[in-house]
Amino acid sequence: MSLQGISGKTIPFDGQVGGHAGVMTVEDGSMIIKDSLPKERAFYALLGTHEALAPLRDYVPEYMGQIKLTGVTEGVEVGHEVLQEIASGKESIVLRNVAYEFKKPNILDIKLGTVLYDESANEEKQARMIETARKTTSLESGVRLTGFKVWDPSKNDYEQTPKSYGKSIKVSQLPEGMAKFFPAASIQDRGLLNAVIDGIIGEVQEIKEIFEKVEMRMVGGSLLIVWEGDEEALKASLSATEELPEGGLTGKHKAEAAAAAPAAAERALNEVEVELPGGKGAAEEESAETSSSLSTSSSKKLSLGYAVKMIDFAHTRLAPGEGPDKGVLLGMETTLKLLEGRKAELAVVAEDAGAA
Ligand SMILES: Nc1ncnc2c1ncn2[C@@H]1O[C@H](COP(=O)(O)OP(=O)(O)O)[C@@H](O)[C@H]1O
Ligand SMILES: [Mg+2]
Repeated sequence: MSLQGISGKTIPFDGQVGGHAGVMTVEDGSMIIKDSLPKERAFYALLGTHEALAPLRDYVPEYMGQIKLTGVTEGVEVGHEVLQEIASGKESIVLRNVAYEFKKPNILDIKLGTVLYDESANEEKQARMIETARKTTSLESGVRLTGFKVWDPSKNDYEQTPKSYGKSIKVSQLPEGMAKFFPAASIQDRGLLNAVIDGIIGEVQEIKEIFEKVEMRMVGGSLLIVWEGDEEALKASLSATEELPEGGLTGKHKAEAAAAAPAAAERALNEVEVELPGGKGAAEEESAETSSSLSTSSSKKLSLGYAVKMIDFAHTRLAPGEGPDKGVLLGMETTLKLLEGRKAELAVVAEDAGAA
């Protein structure tokens, strides 16, 4: 796998559950290509070089490089947004598809934070975004369910929940939203569902601990939660995970495992530096090299039955002296409560089923 693979065909990414339309993927689905602002590329570069951000590296999608879609999509049918991008010559970033290793990925994008504008927004936009936060669950809870898709084995199809749902519900309805993402009926073995939620809680907890220590402002960023909707595949990956130390593969363990393939992610992120605006430019060739050095490690990655990553750094900046991002932390707390709440509900469902 390398960026050279992209010179083949790019197709719309069917795992996109939120954000601006037009996220693309490559033919084998291993990577996604998305429109990016310079700020987001700069953040990914910073991740590789800034020590305070090092703990976050396990919790973002692998950065494969950046690319201009011009030419790459030649002769391929592309969506409106992508065409616009080509016209404007904008850069895209190429990330590892977090849902790639899943057979039937259930995907949820949770937008974090209470403040939905950054300082560069004009007064009118700021006012609008304050109003949006107030009218949705964001201001009160620090989360908005941006969108999600869940595999429904009875229909043999995905159930898609659009952004209008997450935008319209009240904080009191967030648990219903979480129940829709972890439907009791989707997995026969309740223990599996329980284990998945536990695993996800562990990851969110770790991300929260990291965020408590970094001075950063993240506006419009999300937690991307993926879990395996195919019961057999879920069972297989979770039982493989059980054999690992301390009952699971947390970020720390993953880092240890990755150490076997020497710091590939870090190396790649460092290399990304040369691709920053004002750098060497014409980065396609170098991106390809960067990604091929990465691919060895990523193909060895274990599928866990679930994955949790932070995404969307278009409006993220370091904020030395300003302390941690309280709105984002509130969102992580809310997410943890919702996950715990769903676990408790499922325990009751299981008891009822046992009594019947
Ligand atoms: N690395 C990734 N792996 C899988 N899906 C992704 C990845 N990055 C983004 N997505 C999908 O694309 C959507 C939009 O991406 P995001 O980075 O949030 O861009 P936007 O600025 O448009 O909100 C997300 O909601 C998610 O569904
Ligand atoms: Mg987004």
